[in-house]
Amino acid sequence: MNFELTEEQKMVRETIRDFAEAEIKPGVIERDKNAEFPTEVIQKLGELGFMGMQVPEQYGGTEMDTLSYAITLEEVARVDASTCVIMSVNNSLFSNPILKFGSDHLKEKYLSQTASGEKLGAYSLSEPVSGSDAKAMLTTATKDGDSYILKGVKNWVTNGISSDFVVVFAKTDKDAGHKGISAFVVEKGWEGFTTAKKEDKLGIRGSDTCELMFENCRVPAENLIGEEGQGFKIALATLDVGRIGIASQALGIAQGALERALQYAREREQFGKPIGMFQGVGFKLADMATRVDASRLMVYRAAWLKDQGKPIGEKASMAKMYASDTAMFVTNEAIQVHGGYGYVREFEVERMMRDAKITQIYEGTNEIQRLVISRHLLAD
Ligand code: CAA
Repeated sequence: MNFELTEEQKMVRETIRDFAEAEIKPGVIERDKNAEFPTEVIQKLGELGFMGMQVPEQYGGTEMDTLSYAITLEEVARVDASTCVIMSVNNSLFSNPILKFGSDHLKEKYLSQTASGEKLGAYSLSEPVSGSDAKAMLTTATKDGDSYILKGVKNWVTNGISSDFVVVFAKTDKDAGHKGISAFVVEKGWEGFTTAKKEDKLGIRGSDTCELMFENCRVPAENLIGEEGQGFKIALATLDVGRIGIASQALGIAQGALERALQYAREREQFGKPIGMFQGVGFKLADMATRVDASRLMVYRAAWLKDQGKPIGEKASMAKMYASDTAMFVTNEAIQVHGGYGYVREFEVERMMRDAKITQIYEGTNEIQRLVISRHLLAD
């Protein structure tokens, strides 16, 4: 086995780490406090090719491998998980279904704009009544000539406010179960499509999350992704890949919190020596670092499997579940190492803990990951 990154992957890490320190880190505390979207940062990331990382060059992307993509998200989340999830949704949840199942027309029209960072994409599966049980959705898309009429309410849409285009799932046949679900690309500004309630969240406050309302919104039939009835499989296949992104995000948050705890443990002196020299703190640091290391191996393996064209469902869910639990563990311990200082904004570990929590929830709660993993185990 070769655990060494290629020269190209090392260069990607160096480039994005420098960018994250210089351009993303300044203002991260304020953006979290004010729930402010990092518009300029996203534009710059687009110019550097980080918004279409897996999009082929012919559609304006940089066509990097999945491991480079995971490393990039890890490095961004190490300083700002909000910016990371905005990138992850645009790069993965929005772009992948179009890339894998969409027509050339959809790829040319939409991906060239979202890969450059000029426009932003979102993904909309959940509804007030259907979260984990995604196929219970109520939104409908009824064929009318050469278009579909979209009707319903979606929620928990990351990038919902700031995006220009959204991949939306709806029922084209209410009686066909999951085989009656279809996927569409829908544009902001189309009549009958409005954004509603922006959520006031615990964490990832620099990214926006909202409800979307479709009141007889007319969508051209050419905006159907793949075929009618293929939508549920498109949604789940997209989430398989998306979970590598969330796992990378969790890994980056954990790494960031570990580094802060280490720095504090070296510098803070009590009872005449650095607190890291006390076993109570040293053992915590050892546990944190070990879990971060294990998470990294799992995340990189899932990314590597995708690059090999191998099945990823089970390993992506394992990586997402383990890395997100690690992010919660490590950020919580990082606060403990900091004592009272960990509880205030300035030291950042409290934000990291708030940002870590969502990684156990979105793109499928960790209970859903266990369901996916156990189904794979039992099917073997
Ligand atoms: N890829 C492709 N197809 C798949 C699949 C996969 N990974 N997993 C299952 N399928 C297929 C099955 O083969 C089956 O097809 P057939 O009937 O033709 O065999 C079909 O899908 C239905 O499968 P199941 O009966 O297993 O489906 P289920 O209803 O039991 O659901 C589930 C399985 C894993 C629970 C799934 O519903 C799921 O992942 N739920 C969680 C949804 C989720 O993650 N939501 C978050 C949305 S994104 C978000 O968080 C917001 C954001 O902006 C970031």
